[in-house]
Amino acid sequence: MDATNSVNGGRPVVIGVTGASGSLLARAVIDQLLQMRVPVIATASSAAKMVWREEMDESFGVALERWVDGGPFTYYPSGDLAAPIASGTFPVRGMAIVPCSMATAAAVAHGFSDNLIRRAADVALKERRPLILVPRESPLSALHLENLAAAARLGATVIPPEPAFYLEQETMGEMAAFVTQRVLLALGVVDSLPEAMQYRPWGE
Ligand SMILES: Cc1cc2nc3c(=O)[nH]c(=O)nc-3n(C[C@H](O)[C@H](O)[C@H](O)COP(=O)(O)O)c2cc1C
Repeated sequence: MDATNSVNGGRPVVIGVTGASGSLLARAVIDQLLQMRVPVIATASSAAKMVWREEMDESFGVALERWVDGGPFTYYPSGDLAAPIASGTFPVRGMAIVPCSMATAAAVAHGFSDNLIRRAADVALKERRPLILVPRESPLSALHLENLAAAARLGATVIPPEPAFYLEQETMGEMAAFVTQRVLLALGVVDSLPEAMQYRPWGE
């Protein structure tokens, strides 16, 4: 990441990790934010940790230790509804839920704030801060689509984890890096995609 397209301040970004497939995306987003020295406050559901175990070589516990060491990084269990990010008075830049399960998408769309991830998302919407959902399900039912549309109408930005086909990406890592940049852009952490990720059919 070059410094020129970075517009960072001191306020943290909240990352909610839920139990949809795509743990790799959560790790890529948190790694990138910390590499840019953007403070991260993370919270993960129990289903997120279950999926992480299925999909990742690095355990969630080891990743947490690595993030704490490479901070600024804070973690709250998703059951901790007394955490600062449950309140709108706590200043944060915005929130991304990555990956976002259909259960959490439904809860966010309907203000059902029964865990810290869902409550922090509710706070982002009421405070009109950026809220990014990276949903993962396939195929999507009409109910999934309606919930995602409702969240988008409420102000959330919905970023499906799609590869940049125009970049002819070959690996999951490349796809995750691209989705990460899209999330950072929507959060306002960068003000443009890296040049190498921009679509330039017209050439230079
Ligand atoms: C291995 C595994 C993969 C899953 N993949 C998805 C998925 O891609 N999308 C989804 O919406 N739910 C998926 N689920 C189901 C969710 O984990 C489940 O609905 C859970 O209640 C979500 O809770 P949460 O949103 O609080 O994390 C998966 C579950 C498991 C165990």
